[in-house]
Parts: sequence; structure tokens; C-alpha cells
Amino acid sequence: MKWKNKGHEFDELGALFQKNSEILVIGNKNDAEKIYKQLEFLNTKISTFTDINILDLGHGLKKRIKQIKTKFLENILKNKTIILANSIAYNNRLITILTKLKLKEKINYFREEEFFNKFLSIYAVYVSDKVYFPSNCFICTTVCTLNCRDCLNFAPYDKHKTHYDLERLKSDVDTYFKCIDRVGLFHISGGEPFSYPHIKELIEYIGENYRDQIDILGTVTNGTLLPSDNLCKVLQKYDVRVEIDDYTISLPHLKENINKLKNKLTQFNIDIQTNIATTFYELFPPKEITPQENLCKKFDACNQIYQELKNGKLYTCNWAEFAYQAGILTEINDYYDLNNFIATQDKKELIEYRLGFNAKGYVDFCRYCNGNQNINKHFVPAAIQAKGYLEWDINNPTEVRETNTIQQGERHE
Ligand SMILES: C[S@@+](CC[C@H](N)C(=O)[O-])C[C@H]1O[C@@H](n2cnc3c(N)ncnc32)[C@H](O)[C@@H]1O
Ligand code: SF4
Repeated sequence: MKWKNKGHEFDELGALFQKNSEILVIGNKNDAEKIYKQLEFLNTKISTFTDINILDLGHGLKKRIKQIKTKFLENILKNKTIILANSIAYNNRLITILTKLKLKEKINYFREEEFFNKFLSIYAVYVSDKVYFPSNCFICTTVCTLNCRDCLNFAPYDKHKTHYDLERLKSDVDTYFKCIDRVGLFHISGGEPFSYPHIKELIEYIGENYRDQIDILGTVTNGTLLPSDNLCKVLQKYDVRVEIDDYTISLPHLKENINKLKNKLTQFNIDIQTNIATTFYELFPPKEITPQENLCKKFDACNQIYQELKNGKLYTCNWAEFAYQAGILTEINDYYDLNNFIATQDKKELIEYRLGFNAKGYVDFCRYCNGNQNINKHFVPAAIQAKGYLEWDINNPTEVRETNTIQQGERHE
């Protein structure tokens, strides 16, 4: 979205949150406790409602009992910001009661996922003066053990793959957590993160200094490498979630290593999430070039929610920065510089930026990009390998050329 009233885009909703500052979480006991913990940083009043059975205003109930129950629920629900845990978010009885009490979705009540992805940032800044981000992507290396043709990090286009400097990464993390009070998911990605020689030190640094500002500290692997025992100990110590991408649909020979990897991580009691990746979407090369007048509309429809932290900057669109890093774009200006952030005045504009606002209303790469799943229905099998490098020419933008050059070497920053 293009900024129209920078720093005030969410004033209306913010005022409503200030009025209904008490949070009520509805869900079963486990869900409610989990959400309660995730919200503790707000330092506001949070209550939970776990007696789901009481929501039963079934046909059999006498009118008088129904009235008493409805009144009771009204007292519990009114003047609060209500979060419906995922397990109950689509419960018809609950939605009927909320509707009868004239409570509205995205104003009075919120489904868990949407609340954490968007509304919590607004609530946090208006009610608690805190900056909450749903997630951030943080790349430690562009070196990879695979060469996926449709990689969102444009691996086959990048002739200068590199392990990023550890001190620069640490400094980025410091800058980030000076500005952001809490993040839902801090995601260390690549390239192949397990190929990064300093991955253990990086996780230790984040874990020691900022773990209490992160809900989920995560990383992701393509299943080609086995982490060392020492790395496993660190993953376990700092409660790092490891996502394992299973690309055996295109690379069946990886099955054995993936099993070994799962066993090893399980032995170390590490939280794993396996993703059987069957399809990738084709982000690039462009099926067509988007004309200038359609770029804002495209950016909004794409609704890309991933932003990358790099060199003290937050890049509006991950994929645009990855295209720049891989040499597809020759320059990139679509970022928010955290080094210029002044906590006393910029918090609201920073969360607006994180939720998709910026000065232009698009990023330059939108011109050439097919967009994410929201607007792009071109799917291909996951992890098809390119043989060599892919080359793209801005003068012939809908084509790429595959070279026979075997990928080799890497440069260091
Ligand atoms: C670029 S990878 C880097 C991490 C690691 N090398 C891996 O492949 O798991 C980060 C994530 O992007 C996903 N990804 C890459 N290209 C994709 C595409 N074209 N469509 C959908 N997901 C993609 C991968 O499956 C992975 O979960
Ligand atoms: S269209 Fe492409 S460059 Fe534009 S926001 Fe979406 S993913 Fe990013």
C-alpha cells in the first residue's frame, strides 16, 4: 500500500484497541496458555476463557436459561479485544454468539492467525508502545548445496555466492533488536544455512542476547547436510525450530539423508517441522512485464508478507532483495533503514512499513516478478535442478538462458 497518512494509517483501529485494551483469549486450556505467553510482553491485562462448553446455547435449552447464559457471556465479552484460538476460530456457535452480541470480526474479535500476522503489531504499538513484528527473514549465506531452477533466492543466477560475514550479521541482529521489541518468527535462511561455517556462533549470539524477544527462532534446510553434534546442542539449547524441506519428489536420492537428519535432530530433542515440498511457484522469469500504472495494484494483490533484514535495513520484499543479491537487479532502493529509526517518533510508521505500506506503493522488482501464490498460479515440481548458471537479459526479459558452466567457487564478503 502507498502511504497516504504516514504514522497515522492505523489511528482508528489503534484508538479502538486503546478503548478495548483488555485482551480476552478464547480457546481450550493449552491454546489459551500458549497465546497468553506470546502476549505477556505487552504488559496489558489478559484473561482467558476456556470453558468452551458454556457456549452451547443449543435448541434444547429453555428460553430463560438461554437469556441468563447470553447475559453472562455478554458481560465476559464486552469491551475487550477478543482472540479466538485456532482450534475454535471457526466454531459456528461461538461466531453466532459474537454476532448476536453485535461484536464484529477484525474490530472486536480476531482469529488467532490473523491477529498475530497483522493486528498484534497495531495493538502493541498503540496500547503498549511496543514494536511487534510477525516475522523476519535473515540470510546467513547464499551458498547452497543444490541449484534449484526456481529457487526464490535465485541460486542459479548468482555467480558470486558468498558466506556472509559473521560480524556483519551480529551487528544486524543488534540493530534489529534495538528497534523491534518482539518478533513472532526470526527465520535464519539461505542458501543452505547448514553450509554456513559460522551457523553455530550465529545462533549462540542470537540465543544468548535476544532469545527472550523471539517467539519462534527458526531455520530451514534442504536435507542434504547433517549438522554436527555441537551444532545440534546449540539448536537444542536455544530451542531452534528446524524446518526440513523434503525435495524427494525431484531428488529421490535425498531420502536417506533426510531420514538420518530427522533421527539425529530427534535424538537431540530438537523441534522439527517437515515440509514435503511437491511444488514451487515460478517467480521468475516474468511471463509478462507489468506496466508502471499497474505496479501498485500488483503489489497490493501480491500481499507479500516476508521482509529481509540485511545491512541494518529491512527490505520491503524478500524476493526483490534476493534478485538484487543474485545480480538480476543492478540496484535496489526499496528498504527501511533501521539505522535512522528514532524510537520516540517512528514506531507507528515502522509497523506500517512492516505491514505493507511504503512511499511508492510497490517495489521496482514487481515489474519483472510473477508474484507469490496470491497472484501467481504457475506451479512446477519443487527443486528441479538447473545444470549450470541461469542468465537473464533485461532486453529480452521473458527468457532465461541456461549455461553449461558448472557452478563453482564462492566469494566472501
Ligand atoms: C530458498 S530456501 C533456503 C533454505 C534451504 N536451502 C531449503 O531449500 O530449504 C527457503 C525456502 O524457500 C522455499 N522455496 C524456494 N523456492 C521456492 C519456490 N519457487 N516456491 C515456493 N517455495 C520455494 C524452500 O522450499 C524453502 O522452504
Ligand atoms: S510481485 Fe514479486 S517483487 Fe512484487 S511484492 Fe510480490 S513477490 Fe515481491
